[in-house]
Amino acid sequence: MADIAQLREQLLAEVAASAQPNEVLRGDALKNLYREIPTMPAEKRGEFGQQVNALKQEIEAAIEARQAVLTQVELAPIDVTAPFDVNAKRPSLLPAENGTLHPLTQEMECISNIFGRMGFVTEESREIDDQYHMFETLNFPKGHPARDDWDTFMTVETDKDGDPFIAPAHTSTMQNRILRKYAGNLKEGNAIAAIVPDRTFRNEDLDARHEHTFYQVEGVYVDKNVNAGMLVATLQKFLEEYYGRALEVSVNPFYFPFTEPSFEFALSCPFCEKKGCGICSQSGWIELLGCGMIHPNVLNAADIDPNEYTGFAFGCGVDRLIMMKHNIEDIRHLESGKLKFLRQF
Ligand code: PHE
Repeated sequence: MADIAQLREQLLAEVAASAQPNEVLRGDALKNLYREIPTMPAEKRGEFGQQVNALKQEIEAAIEARQAVLTQVELAPIDVTAPFDVNAKRPSLLPAENGTLHPLTQEMECISNIFGRMGFVTEESREIDDQYHMFETLNFPKGHPARDDWDTFMTVETDKDGDPFIAPAHTSTMQNRILRKYAGNLKEGNAIAAIVPDRTFRNEDLDARHEHTFYQVEGVYVDKNVNAGMLVATLQKFLEEYYGRALEVSVNPFYFPFTEPSFEFALSCPFCEKKGCGICSQSGWIELLGCGMIHPNVLNAADIDPNEYTGFAFGCGVDRLIMMKHNIEDIRHLESGKLKFLRQF
């Protein structure tokens, strides 16, 4: 005859530890007891049968209680600050793992800190803008062919002039707003000095160096007697601080409608000391950003007198800065959301 008391202990312990307590009833232990009943001598059969039934009921009650506990954990309120998922069946067994900031966020904070120490305030851009800020205030009149160089995404809805809204193709869309917001600085005898690190979009053929969504940092500096030497010195100092080493820069003439003169700024390749390598396409130099002296029409568009004030502006690809800092070979990793990549930072 089976030892009912011992079996009871064993089954109750199984229920208490199980994540699926129903399974305990499906096991052989109780079934074997029921099979034993008809083989018992007639005078013992009644009492034994009652004991088996009582045990079954007790186990069923224990299963119900256990299930209530398990569902309670499932319905617990979501604590978004918990370092594990409280809704998981056994939260205490999950590793408490903290996330990290995305490398783009980390680097933009670093950029903002460096420029902050040079006296620049940090402003944010926006992800939907209008043609007025993307083109008109930047000296691209309607129909200007250079508009095609900043081809981007547009909305179906249109503004009051019938123009679509746009996903900004550069952070220069913020120049007019920055100039207007800080015009008071000039009246007080101070400079306008701001940077805008934020997200930008372009209609691109995607490859290792081109993404449709990327980041730029815009810089705007206006005061009396600002010259191109100050522009070069500011950018060189920033880059040396960012890469933590002395760098050589090369400034070449370029064209942007909103700066005159305009330059393209290249940096001696930090990987090969100008000898030529895969990263700089064997040239020893890496094109990094566009910049120039703010065009008088851009100052006029913000009601700043270009005869009294001059300034410089620059726009730099943040993804490219980061790729060179951390030796990342493909820009698409940055927007991929791949944890294996992101956990390295
Ligand atoms: N907006 C330009 C670009 O995206 C860069 C730039 C910014 C050039 C400011 C000059 C001045 O290519």
